[in-house]
Amino acid sequence: MTRTYKISVLPGDGIGREVIPQAVRVLRAVEELVGGFQTSLHQFECGGEYYLREKREWSLEAEEFTKKDADAVLFGAIGAVNSDGSSVRLPDENLAGYSVAIGLRMELDLYANVRPVKLYEGVWTPLSQKKPQDIDMIIVRENTEGLYSPTRGILRRGGVSELAIDTRVITRKGSERVIRYAYQLAADSHGAPEDGLKRVTCVDKSNLLAGCQLFRSVFDEIGVEYPGIEKDYAYVDAWTQWCLRKPEHYNVVVAPNEFGDIITDLGAAVQGGLGVAPAGNIGSKHGVFEPVHGSAPKYYGQNSANPMASILALSMMLEWLAAKHHDKRAHRAAEVVKESVAATLRDGKVRTKDLCVGQWSTVNPSSTEGTTSAIIEMAKSIEDTR
Ligand code: NAI
Ligand code: MG
Repeated sequence: MTRTYKISVLPGDGIGREVIPQAVRVLRAVEELVGGFQTSLHQFECGGEYYLREKREWSLEAEEFTKKDADAVLFGAIGAVNSDGSSVRLPDENLAGYSVAIGLRMELDLYANVRPVKLYEGVWTPLSQKKPQDIDMIIVRENTEGLYSPTRGILRRGGVSELAIDTRVITRKGSERVIRYAYQLAADSHGAPEDGLKRVTCVDKSNLLAGCQLFRSVFDEIGVEYPGIEKDYAYVDAWTQWCLRKPEHYNVVVAPNEFGDIITDLGAAVQGGLGVAPAGNIGSKHGVFEPVHGSAPKYYGQNSANPMASILALSMMLEWLAAKHHDKRAHRAAEVVKESVAATLRDGKVRTKDLCVGQWSTVNPSSTEGTTSAIIEMAKSIEDTR
């Protein structure tokens, strides 16, 4: 029986509108190449540009389908600019598109933000003495609480903002589920590049913060369920320098929300930039997959943005659907997509401008569409030679 997955496709603003259609092209290609599964795509407008026109961040239909019917969500980025260069905002000061980019994390309870940090052969890294086999970790960021909990406020007296409070919420339930997710990822992994050991590193600030002390004690409790996995600890400030000095030590890294936010940007830099950094927002029922980057309005309309982050996010989406539905064909499709991106990078001939640095600075940059075509050709040759 051919399984059909209903996918909500939300390109959003700026280069989201350029890179998500490329991911869709790759999806259509692997569906045909691999066979045995199908997707029915439901594409909707959303974000700041939509808000300027419609005074809503997305249509009711888009919202309903995405929250109730979709098996998975493929999302680009939100963020539109006004003519004076400022960001388009809602009356409550949030960015227009907030309900889609951030709101869905709460509404669909997407508690784990999962970001693979992998250096592909053919990509320049600021750690140029490191090799692709040294950099291959997954950072798991708690996605529903911490400092970004909507428990904040500003005290205004006589029209003057006098005091602002952001409350940091860390709960046992919130910690348990994301930490268990991280241990399970490590259990299913090949271990750390340094020594092949399966390892989870808890990144926090438990020398100072009560929430981090709870997070770390839950980390130890859950760790008892995984005796074969090494438990490792780092304070977040120290971790940033260890990540640069010894990235090969890390296999799976788990952190509370705000620290995870910061260290995953470091991860994107280490792996060669936002153009190749995908993310999954994962809960027990729902999954939203996106490139880590935003809408890069300056680059919109030039056919020059790198589609690889979105195509790798597509691969994560297929892998998640495959695991959830025990679908071997979707698993194969996820592998083909990932291998095709890796082989295209290794090949080195086709690359967008952001990747024409280091030893590739003399390569003529290829377009967004041309890069995708090369990835699709690569997928065909990978499937043909099987
Ligand atoms: P950005 O990620 O959009 O772009 C920063 C820079 O990274 C770009 O100027 C470009 O040099 C490079 N870059 C990003 N993606 C690239 C790609 N695919 N290919 C090649 N180069 C790429 O971040 P920025 O400029 O801070 O934000 C722009 C807008 O996006 C803002 O409105 C911001 O709020 C929004 N944003 C939305 C996100 C989301 O929807 N998840 C995440 C981050 C920012
Ligand atoms: Mg961030």
